[in-house]
Amino acid sequence: MQAQTLQKIEALFEKYPQKRGALLPAIYLVQAEKGHVDSDAARELAELFELQPVDVWEVLTFYNMFYTAPQGRHHVYVCTNLPCSLRGARSLLKGIESHLGVHCGQTTADGRITLGHEECLGSCGTAPMMRVDGEYVENLDLVEAKRVIDGLD
Ligand code: FES
Repeated sequence: MQAQTLQKIEALFEKYPQKRGALLPAIYLVQAEKGHVDSDAARELAELFELQPVDVWEVLTFYNMFYTAPQGRHHVYVCTNLPCSLRGARSLLKGIESHLGVHCGQTTADGRITLGHEECLGSCGTAPMMRVDGEYVENLDLVEAKRVIDGLD
């Protein structure tokens, strides 16, 4: 990790009664630097926090906003929870997989898009829906989903 990131993490330690409390913001800082937090970075964090690497890895892999592998420039996540699935989300996701040539959880070869699925995003009334770089796109069908995705640089 870069010296600047290390300094920011060390500054976090003063804000928490226990070092471990600063782990989530520290992971955010490392991810902001590299785009993801791989096993080497997790080991570095573990050393810094005086934890076992598995302790850091458990946190990293619990939250879906942390990435352990390089990501595409854009994130496309289709909600596949029950209400969205009842309105066609699973076939929508399959259509997007086919359109992009990747499976859910993968990144396109050009590094443009990482495709994933989500649990309920609280927008069931406008199902099916997907989250694109943090923005909700709702009342989807495959034509609209492709239009949005094809518009990403
Ligand atoms: S089930 Fe998809 S937003 Fe709730």
